[in-house]
Amino acid sequence: MCGIVGATSERRISEILIEGLKRLEYRGYDSAGLAVLNDNGDIELVRRVGKVQALKDAVGEQPLSGTTGIAHTRWATHGGVTEANAHPHISGNCIAVVHNGIIENHDKLRQQLQQLGYTFNSDTDTEVICHWIHHERKKHDDFFAAVQATIKHLEGAYGTLVMDCRNPGRLVVARSGSPLVIGLGIGENFVASDQLALLPVTRRFIVLEEGDMADITRTEVKVYDRDGNPVEREVHEFDGHYDAGGKGEYRHYMLKEIHEQPSAVRHALEERLTDHGLADDVFGKGSLELLKRVKHVQIVACGTSYHAGLVARYWLEALAGVSCNVEIASEFRYRTSHVHHDSLLVTISQSGETADTLAALRLSKQLGYLGSLTICNVPTSSMVRESDLAYLTRAGAEIGVASTKAFTTQLVGLLMLTLAIGQFRGMSHEQQSAVVQSLKVLPNKLEEALLLSEAIEALAPEFADKYHSLFLGRGTQYPIAMEGALKLKEISYIHAEAYAAGELKHGPLALIDAEMPVIVVAPNDELLEKLKSNVEEVRARGGIMYVFADKHAHFKSDDSMRVINVTHCDELIAPIVYTVPLQLLSYFVAIIKGTDVDQPRNLAKSVTVE
Ligand code: M6R
Repeated sequence: MCGIVGATSERRISEILIEGLKRLEYRGYDSAGLAVLNDNGDIELVRRVGKVQALKDAVGEQPLSGTTGIAHTRWATHGGVTEANAHPHISGNCIAVVHNGIIENHDKLRQQLQQLGYTFNSDTDTEVICHWIHHERKKHDDFFAAVQATIKHLEGAYGTLVMDCRNPGRLVVARSGSPLVIGLGIGENFVASDQLALLPVTRRFIVLEEGDMADITRTEVKVYDRDGNPVEREVHEFDGHYDAGGKGEYRHYMLKEIHEQPSAVRHALEERLTDHGLADDVFGKGSLELLKRVKHVQIVACGTSYHAGLVARYWLEALAGVSCNVEIASEFRYRTSHVHHDSLLVTISQSGETADTLAALRLSKQLGYLGSLTICNVPTSSMVRESDLAYLTRAGAEIGVASTKAFTTQLVGLLMLTLAIGQFRGMSHEQQSAVVQSLKVLPNKLEEALLLSEAIEALAPEFADKYHSLFLGRGTQYPIAMEGALKLKEISYIHAEAYAAGELKHGPLALIDAEMPVIVVAPNDELLEKLKSNVEEVRARGGIMYVFADKHAHFKSDDSMRVINVTHCDELIAPIVYTVPLQLLSYFVAIIKGTDVDQPRNLAKSVTVE
């Protein structure tokens, strides 16, 4: 989704802005731009459709001397992908605005501004913000007061950053629904929608709360809450582990992140397990008091994180002895749902900023849940700050749009949640020890799964000319099949569907032919024999299968079936281990298809608008 970077300094800042935008590229965007206030007090604007590199090239031809500026990567919502719709937007050659989010009442505001004589140069909702500030500026001598007055008219979600030609060295930001951080420097200050953008210039951040505004100069940052009262917000030192670094030896971030899974899981386990159970406070101080009372779990999430929730339902119901519902956040938030007695609301999110999941968390507070827990990767995110309890997945920064290590570390957290709740609900010591032992060997098992890389790369050409594919699994492997299908479709653009293998004969069997590869996940679990019958159903109809199987499952390659033997592992952690070969498969297919693996078309890393 859109990204924001801003800076006010004594040095030239166009390079800082562009580097910041580059570091936000992973979030997904389709155009980029920046505006810098030059030494003559004029705003210099450069915008380009396409990559930040195109913007950099354009700026390179026309170096900018200003020391205060704002920049943006846009992911189109209102108005097509054009230079005119790219941010920043300017009003009266003096007010420049970048904005993340959606202004829902933009039509009404646009009409009012047109009646006041303003001319619009774009189709965006954002342009109403800059004209409205310009309009308010006629009534307010103070730039900050003009932005404050404007914000009162806006409905919807916004993280917005404003620059005024009459106030060199000053930036104003407002946050409502779209995250913003202020980076603190020495004699210079910065703004970004994600702290990763500012790591080359600072490691000290203020995370703005909902409704906050800030007045920023080179030497001072004043923050005001939603009622306009001055407030002190905590200064966070950046957690070094969350720095993505570069791609290192890898061709793509996604591949690097796939290979980081053993170490990410090791880090996730550190100091959280004892020999027979969980260390105290894994879910936050005093969390056990709340978890002790849980009789039902309601999980809400989107995309890959939703798939993690679906796996967790099997664990929570079978091991922890609590009932569990799992729902996509965009559905949950707009329907009337029944809240079970003593129910814990669990959100799962890599970013902690996904608009629908965050809205579901906020809604849950009025619905009578026992409390809320988030399983999240970003320590400073809205979900972590707004939930009663938080479990940090410690995956480190995930840059590839396709989620990989975030998912496997979410599953680790959900197994720990199973332990945390199960210990109060009759889970035996033996069962708890078994979970702990399985978790402890997991990093090694993931390393073994990664050894399949070459074999999977060799299979990939067989998928490259296909238009459709079917993923099958049973039990906890059904959500893993769903996750495998999501990975394949998002980075290789091949249509992929997942089915619980037992559902085949209720419809999808009609699709089977040699042109649609069928990918089967087959660990050696209690459903293996059932799955084998489903495999025969596919074989009998001329289907071509790729079976990721435990070596003890006794599948044999033949004309209709390619068997890839996955390391033998305990049933409990099998969903985590079997995820890895499916990630590798989608990666290598995407490589052959030549797609933009880390930033697939039309997608954004963090979906902060509905
Ligand atoms: O940050 P979140 O985990 O809340 O994001 C949810 C989904 O947008 C995300 O998992 C998405 O489905 C990924 N691109 C999948 O790879």
